This record gives sequence, structure tokens and C-alpha cells, in this order.
Amino acid sequence: MNTPRIFGTPLAPNATKVMLLGSGELGKEVIIALQRLGVEVIAVDRYPNAPGHQVAHRAHVINMADGAALAALIEQEQPDLVVPEIEAIATDTLAALEQAGKITCIPTARAAQLTMNREGIRSLAAETLGLPTSPYRYASSLAELQAACTSIGFPCVIKPVMSSSGKGQSKIDSADEVAAAWAYAAAGSRVDAGRVIVEGFIDFDYEITLLTVRALGADGQVQTEFCEPIGHVQVQGDYVESWQPCRMHPVALQRAREIAASVTANLGGLGLFGVELFVKDQMVWFSEVSPRPHDTGMVTMATQVQSEFELHAKAILGLPVNVALRTPGASAVIYGQHEAAGIGFAGVAAALQVPGSDIRLFGKPESFARRRMGVALASAADVETARTRAKEAAARVQPLPPG
Ligand SMILES: Nc1ncnc2c1ncn2[C@@H]1O[C@H](COP(=O)(O)OP(=O)(O)O)[C@@H](O)[C@H]1O
Ligand SMILES: [Mg+2]
Repeated sequence: MNTPRIFGTPLAPNATKVMLLGSGELGKEVIIALQRLGVEVIAVDRYPNAPGHQVAHRAHVINMADGAALAALIEQEQPDLVVPEIEAIATDTLAALEQAGKITCIPTARAAQLTMNREGIRSLAAETLGLPTSPYRYASSLAELQAACTSIGFPCVIKPVMSSSGKGQSKIDSADEVAAAWAYAAAGSRVDAGRVIVEGFIDFDYEITLLTVRALGADGQVQTEFCEPIGHVQVQGDYVESWQPCRMHPVALQRAREIAASVTANLGGLGLFGVELFVKDQMVWFSEVSPRPHDTGMVTMATQVQSEFELHAKAILGLPVNVALRTPGASAVIYGQHEAAGIGFAGVAAALQVPGSDIRLFGKPESFARRRMGVALASAADVETARTRAKEAAARVQPLPPG
């Protein structure tokens, strides 16, 4: 692990340099946290003026799935740390560069490789680590999918092995719906349209993200720390609101921590992970893990002493972290509602009239109806009040067509 012992001056020869691969709203906040520590930040994304581009020292636009382009940019910039912020990147290139001793990838190139494909992380969790998960099978054709669904049973959930934010994902209740789910998965897949996972539907009471940090302790050894659990609501596989702390049965919380410790220890390295878990009474299932800040964790900007972004920035630099909760709170997503570039936002002042509220507008150049363009945050003495406040603040922000 290549953590800086001396922090340099940005834009000077001794600068401590970090390259973000992906510069969306989560990357933007990581960059701001790094900037506060005098780190020189290079933000990379596939389109110009991405949120993180706007707050970095330098911005680059490349196809991050193109290994040659990625390697050339890393060679040019010589970052101390390479920090993937999204899944869809040439992780084999990162692994080769890491193997050759040319980069330190956060948390590890292997973690980026395993989590960019549902097959990699699911097989690790269920088969290698023996963690409880939904029953699952893979399929590479409609005929295989039909057989897989019959074997798993209904209802089941079908997802492209490479996709995120619910894209291409469907829950089906009968064999009649398999063909439509196959076509939908092919349309929503990120890279290869040919492969899906079928998961048995877990009838959970609630789902959480357990933010788990691997950071260096005073003794120089990696310590694993857990934030308070974050509850969230997903609509069609995409997060719409989250809150912290999420009240849990103590046995379920203990199991959740054991699962998170197991999977993050295997992925290794330094940094923050978002471990997604399904909970029913005292039972806990591992769902998936992001080896980086998690969208549902934006709530920590309102709730924790150090947000998930600050925790990630500090952990990857080898610094101590504080995972303490400051106050209960909640987040609610603000969608674009319009399909246009350069939209406006009315009602921000009204939103901030909601007690305990705050707003983040991400500055994305282009809006889509269901694109996440901002988030409302709120704190309160209890989570229920915070959720009401966050939703009210989000509802008061009105996206407007450009002009
Ligand atoms: N096997 C399942 N049983 C019940 N709900 C599921 C299952 N798989 C996914 N979901 C629901 O869909 C959401 C998105 O699925 P997930 O696997 O996390 O995909 P993504 O990578 O797009 O976030 C989950 O947070 C959960 O609400
Ligand atoms: Mg998920």
C-alpha cells in the first residue's frame, strides 16, 4: 500500500496526486475532500464537465473502458493513487499496471475487477466466503434463462451481469415473463448484452448499506470500522431515499458486520466500501458491494462527523478516520424530470426553509427524466422526521427546462 508519508503541495513537483476514474456526484465529493488535504486531483470521465471535473485540478475525457487510452493517461499523469468511482472501466488494465508496480489502485485492482461483474462478486461471496445470498444462476441465452428461472423458481430477479442502478433489471412472477426479461436485460446491459444472473427474490423486511472502512490505525495495521447502518428505498433498482441510522435487531446488526468484515477483508486494500444487505428479522443476506462510496451514503453528509467521502479520502491516504454518527438524518433524490442540457432549478430557497435541510445540486450538464441531478439532505432528532424533511425539501426543488 502506497500511502503518502509526506503530503506535498498541489501543482508542485512533490504534489500528492490522486486520479479519479469516474467523476460523478460521488467522485465530486471525494475530490472536494481530497482538495481539503492539499491533494492534487485529476478527474476523469467519459463526458466533458462532469460534476467532479468542475472541482478538480485537471479534467480529462476518455473512454475508461479503453485499456490503451486509460494506460496512456495514467502514464502521462503519474498519479500516486488511482481511485475508480464507477464500475465500467478497463479493470484488467488496472490489474496489469498494479501487478507491474506502476499504480496503487483503490482499494485493489482485484476488487475493481470482481465488482464490475455481478458474477465475480457473487461467486466470491457465496462460494469462496460461504456468505448467505439469494439463490442464483447465470444464463447466456434465452433457453438457458428459461431453465435457470425454472430451477430458481418464481418470483425471481433477472439482471445483466454488467449493469448498475437497476438498468436492465426486472422482477418476474411467472415463466410467461422470461422472454421479456431477457430482451429488457439485453437492452440495459452495459457491455456484453449476452449474460444475466437470475436471483431468487428475497422477501426482505428492509435493506441496508453498511459502510465499512478499511483504514490504518495508530499501529500502522489495517483496521475495519463500521458506520451506523443506512436504510434505503429502491424503485426499479435505483435509490430514491436513504436514512441513518437504520434500526436493526442486534443479532442482525452483528451478522451484517460479520458479512461486511468478511467480504471487505477479502477485497483488501484501503478505503470505504458500501456493503448492501437484505434483512428479514434476524436473517441477513449479502447482496453486493461497492469498493467505494455508495449513492445511498450521501446521507452521511448530513449525519456523520466525517461523510463517507471524507472517510474514503482519509482512508486511502493512510490517515485515521472517525465513523461516528452526529445526528439522525435522511436523503431524498432530486430527479431531472426533463430531457435537456442546461436545465434550471427553482425553489432552492424554499427547500432550504425546511428545518434541518440542505441541498446538493450536482451540476450535471445534461438532464434526463430519471437522472439524479441533486439530493436533499435533512437531519432531525429522529429518522422519521428527517425522512419527511428530506422528501419535502427534494419536492420543493423544481427542475426547469433550459432558457
Ligand atoms: N434477489 C433480490 N431479491 C429482492 N430484491 C432484490 C434482489 N436483487 C435486487 N433487488 C432489489 O433491487 C435493487 C437493486 O439491485 P442490485 O443488485 O443492488 O443492483 P444494482 O447493481 O443496479 O444496484 C436492490 O437494492 C433491491 O432493492
Ligand atoms: Mg445495488
